[in-house]
Amino acid sequence: MIGEMVKVWRARTWMKKNVPFLYSWHAYVGYEMDLFDQFTKPASIQEVALSQNIEMDLLEQWVEVGITIKHLKRVEDEKVTTRNRWKLPTSKKDPHSSGILLKEMMELHIPALLSYPQLLRNQTKQHFNSDVHGSTVAKTSILLERFAFPKVQKAIKKYNVDSILDLGCGEGGYVKRIGERYPEKKMVGIEIHEAVAKAAEQSLQDFENIDIHCGDLHEYEPEQPFDMIMANNLFHYIDPSERLQFFEKASTWLGSEGLFFVLTPMQKSKHGKQFSSAFNSFFMTFQNLYPIPSQKEMETLAGKTHFKVESVEPIVKEGGWYAMTFRKNGSL
Ligand SMILES: C[S@@+](CC[C@H](N)C(=O)[O-])C[C@H]1O[C@@H](n2cnc3c(N)ncnc32)[C@H](O)[C@@H]1O
Repeated sequence: MIGEMVKVWRARTWMKKNVPFLYSWHAYVGYEMDLFDQFTKPASIQEVALSQNIEMDLLEQWVEVGITIKHLKRVEDEKVTTRNRWKLPTSKKDPHSSGILLKEMMELHIPALLSYPQLLRNQTKQHFNSDVHGSTVAKTSILLERFAFPKVQKAIKKYNVDSILDLGCGEGGYVKRIGERYPEKKMVGIEIHEAVAKAAEQSLQDFENIDIHCGDLHEYEPEQPFDMIMANNLFHYIDPSERLQFFEKASTWLGSEGLFFVLTPMQKSKHGKQFSSAFNSFFMTFQNLYPIPSQKEMETLAGKTHFKVESVEPIVKEGGWYAMTFRKNGSL
């Protein structure tokens, strides 16, 4: 009898633990299908289904869930409207919408985490297809920019940086922000993914001081040394066995006392352990993505390549995201 009660209690506990997922799922569908915008003004389910050409039963169910979790409310004449719009992701048209993070979580992270049993059983890993996901991943990194940029700016000022190399620059958000404030700084961004590099080139076409190279950073040969190298959200693309070589390269590409600026989620960090372990579980399912580094690993690599650790600062504590700066302290 007691055993049965414990089973029921356990089942209820797991059901309750799963409720928060409903909020994310609902917000994801609302973002992906632009439904929160459709219901900004009170509208009937039928009207929205017809105008958007979408399945009405499913829309009705999505609305029902929205009402129970207070993303939506029923108003007069069978109409429904979005509630607390400011808390929900803005439209897909907004390039800085938090919805892009939900999209990455739902379309990439959750499926990868669900593939664990199959991958464990088959003793395999999957392939990260950047043609499909490259643009989502580059866009979610942009969300971090706003928090991280002050640290970049601080480093530029403190160390009188005049030239910058941005490795894995994505859509070029960091170099663009720097270019807007410092039109005289010389900058180069390297991006391997063609569509992403193209988006960077387009967004930077008015900046004569910024060059984007589409190519593999491992094959890059700079013409002159840089004052600062950035590697933002890049370490999970670098095999741990190649990270020492990567630090060595950064050192040879920097002028004397040059600065290596790294932004990365960190394993076993002081802050945001839960998030960073989930993030790492996701990366680990791919044979072409790698574990995020730990602070100890980064410090060891810096020590072996004559970099002095100048600072380690959290950017988003909940996510275990850190900015680290290393200063070249001699030659290899
Ligand atoms: C997660 S994004 C980060 C973009 C940007 N640095 C930021 O923080 O917003 C990492 C980028 O590095 C690029 N990348 C990965 N490996 C690379 C390589 N070997 N050479 C050049 N770019 C690379 C990826 O295509 C991707 O766009």
